[in-house]
Amino acid sequence: MILAKADAVVRGLVGEILARFERRGYTILGLKLMHVTQDQAKRHYAEHDGKPFFPGLVDYITATPIVAMVIEGEDAIEGCRATIGATNPIKATPGTIRGDYGQTIGRNLAHGSDSPESAQREVAIFFNDQELFPRAHVLGDWISAK
Ligand code: GTP
Ligand code: MG
Repeated sequence: MILAKADAVVRGLVGEILARFERRGYTILGLKLMHVTQDQAKRHYAEHDGKPFFPGLVDYITATPIVAMVIEGEDAIEGCRATIGATNPIKATPGTIRGDYGQTIGRNLAHGSDSPESAQREVAIFFNDQELFPRAHVLGDWISAK
């Protein structure tokens, strides 16, 4: 699961971020602009609970609406993390989302799940089943109507 975090939304970079995953060939199963509750934020980043930056991290992803997306593809976890770049944008390679648009670790634009288990857990925090469309991309007949 991918999040375009508060700074991406406020800076108008959602399209840039989404386009990178589309261009890489991933399939979008779910996509929405949403307000993240404190409870969702704390569950999402539970592994960081207790760290000094945790309260700021929760504030960061609840401050403005964010865009949550579920995307699928071959080795999508690894590919998406590579597309996003290193956690600290200063260390992120140019060409990655964080390397192209980020400056500080506390405002690093995007989140990507780090394992299939995390992805499954996170999708359940942000989406219900009616919001996921696993077959949308195979409805090819609809785009060739005359
Ligand atoms: P996510 O995809 O957002 O989970 O980032 P990540 O997997 O690259 O990093 P990690 O899970 O270790 O950290 C989660 C988020 O916490 C990061 O994306 C940062 O926004 C924030 N974060 C991590 N380390 C620090 C830190 O040392 N200082 C601050 N201010 N924020 C941090
Ligand atoms: Mg992480």
